[in-house]
Amino acid sequence: MSSPEPNAKALRPARGRRPRIVAVAGARPNFMKIAPLLHEIRRRGTLEAFLVHTGQHYDSAMSDGFFQDLGIPDPDANLGVGSGSHAVQTAEVMTKMEAILLEQRPDAVLVVGDVNSTLAATIAGVKLNIPVAHVEAGLRSFDRGMPEEINRLLTDAVSTWLFVSEPSGETNLLREGVDPARIHFAGNVMIDTLLAQLDRARGLDTVQRLGLSAREYAVLTLHRPSNVDDPARLSDLFDVLEEIQQRLPVVFPVHPRTAEAIQSRLGGRTLKLRTTPPLGYLDFLRLMADARLVLTDSGGIQEETTVLGVPCLTLRVNTERPVTVEQGTNRIVGNDPRVIRAEVAKILEGGHRKGRVPDRWDGQAAKRIVDVLERDLGERS
Ligand code: UD1
Repeated sequence: MSSPEPNAKALRPARGRRPRIVAVAGARPNFMKIAPLLHEIRRRGTLEAFLVHTGQHYDSAMSDGFFQDLGIPDPDANLGVGSGSHAVQTAEVMTKMEAILLEQRPDAVLVVGDVNSTLAATIAGVKLNIPVAHVEAGLRSFDRGMPEEINRLLTDAVSTWLFVSEPSGETNLLREGVDPARIHFAGNVMIDTLLAQLDRARGLDTVQRLGLSAREYAVLTLHRPSNVDDPARLSDLFDVLEEIQQRLPVVFPVHPRTAEAIQSRLGGRTLKLRTTPPLGYLDFLRLMADARLVLTDSGGIQEETTVLGVPCLTLRVNTERPVTVEQGTNRIVGNDPRVIRAEVAKILEGGHRKGRVPDRWDGQAAKRIVDVLERDLGERS
């Protein structure tokens, strides 16, 4: 593939310095994606990285712990934007990112995933004529009611480099009329992190500490607005999950948004599940690796369970990660209690396929991405 044609002036580094990249992370799922990229950039020493934490997630359990677990260097800047409506959060990141970009004058902005911070940093960059590299481009749920889908569409529309993690990413971008020269099938950086950390995670006593036995428990995560913001739906989901808990323990690390919904929308309902506060990366990986099954509405967990060979039931009506269903262990079950009950029963009776690991989910995605950035940014220096 030929190199893209980003704005040549913005790409020219100031004399006598290495090409500089401002890398951006803001919310929990960003941290495990940015980590291998930063490690690779620093290992090579050919590019300079300046790390910005937007502060979209700020609780220690949602942020600092991940930096420690993954050995991510302290951010060079923390924008401290915190929570807010979509417009407020996005606007705050844009305003503060613009100031950083004007000061740093980077040659590229590197964003990952599909959270509000991803889109906001992208807009701030392109408006200053700084080309943007989007890692995990091209994923589409085709559901514009999801905030992440809007973030994905808009980020991809204006990014210079589009690094896709699975074949659907390329198909979707081509369908949207994207120049093939902008698309690079790099693989999955989140899996780079998983493969790098799995041995360490396996050394932890998380399973025993929670009084569980390997393959005899389920793991649950739930935080999507489509599941937690509607009290009737959330309550129905908890009813069926509590029923499942009668067959095997269901460990449920509760996301802050969900904790808030349980208080404000379900009158502080006491769940008959094994609830815990949000867990660190390594503890959660340890738990997933030995689970009998995982129930989730997260995007990344669909991918992680596929690599671990653990059955995953996705509590959504769609997925932007179809390769996990076509090749992996994922099944889309929506939020109908009857379907969830039946699918759990099938797994407990041994009826779930093992699946296989998708192409380029091999721990080398960050290397492929940095190869391209090094080449394209270096060519212009
Ligand atoms: C965000 C991402 C979502 C991702 C998820 C992972 C967007 C649109 N959504 O959703 O794609 O899957 O992160 O967690 O960017 N809160 C805290 N402490 C924190 C962070 C949040 O208490 O450290 C609470 C606040 O009440 C906040 C709420 O969680 O209002 C939601 O946080 P927000 O960042 O808006 O979205 P998430 O639901 O976390």
